[in-house]
Amino acid sequence: MKTIDVCLSPELMHLYPVQDKTVVVVDILRATSCMVTAFAHGVESITPIANLEECQNLKLRGYVISGERDGKKVEGFDKGNSPFEYMGEQVRGLKIAFTTTNGTQAIEKSKGAKDVIIGSFLNLNAVAKYLLLNEHNVLVVCAGWKGKVNLEDTLFAGALVDKLKDYLGPDCDAPLAAQHLYNIAKDDMVSFLNASSHVRRLNKLNIHDDLKFCVTPDQYTVLPRLINGVLQLR
Ligand code: MLT
Repeated sequence: MKTIDVCLSPELMHLYPVQDKTVVVVDILRATSCMVTAFAHGVESITPIANLEECQNLKLRGYVISGERDGKKVEGFDKGNSPFEYMGEQVRGLKIAFTTTNGTQAIEKSKGAKDVIIGSFLNLNAVAKYLLLNEHNVLVVCAGWKGKVNLEDTLFAGALVDKLKDYLGPDCDAPLAAQHLYNIAKDDMVSFLNASSHVRRLNKLNIHDDLKFCVTPDQYTVLPRLINGVLQLR
């Protein structure tokens, strides 16, 4: 049986060898939800970048630059980090350079993996299907918040473990913990997450609409993959 493991924070990645694994990077609020939404609406590519200045410099090379720090859009950037900014005809065909507080850092740390894909509730089924057909063991990398564990990424990991439970076995206790948490929360994830640190942070910034959308399963069927450092649909 193939295995599934969950790394609850990128700071724990040294414990998980990834070179022979498929890594699913998840940042439910909101980086990977934005990425999935953007691809579903026709963007051509997203180049995830850890460093702010490096991302900024890509503007001169014709990229749309998107970014957030501490939940706020970066001054001078074209777009921030709400999925609603990545919908509609205006995003079709764009090449986006994207930097976020945690999501793009987690992608950076996953680069040594056999395969890196982008997960969110919005494309949960597409992720699960891909992992079923793929031959490698799986590691879900939760982006968390500045090295700390968060609830929303853990819930996604749990949803995936639960969906794949008949096909992929847990590699340690983190997938089981995530699965239990998901089963407690699944009937009303919005209420469950209201007490979470990032929802409280977003509320303080007057960002109220993103949560409900970001925890809605299977809005899209796209599966972004990291190929030569660039996210694309293949
Ligand atoms: C991140 O990468 O830390 C975020 O997606 C934060 C946010 O904008 O909500």
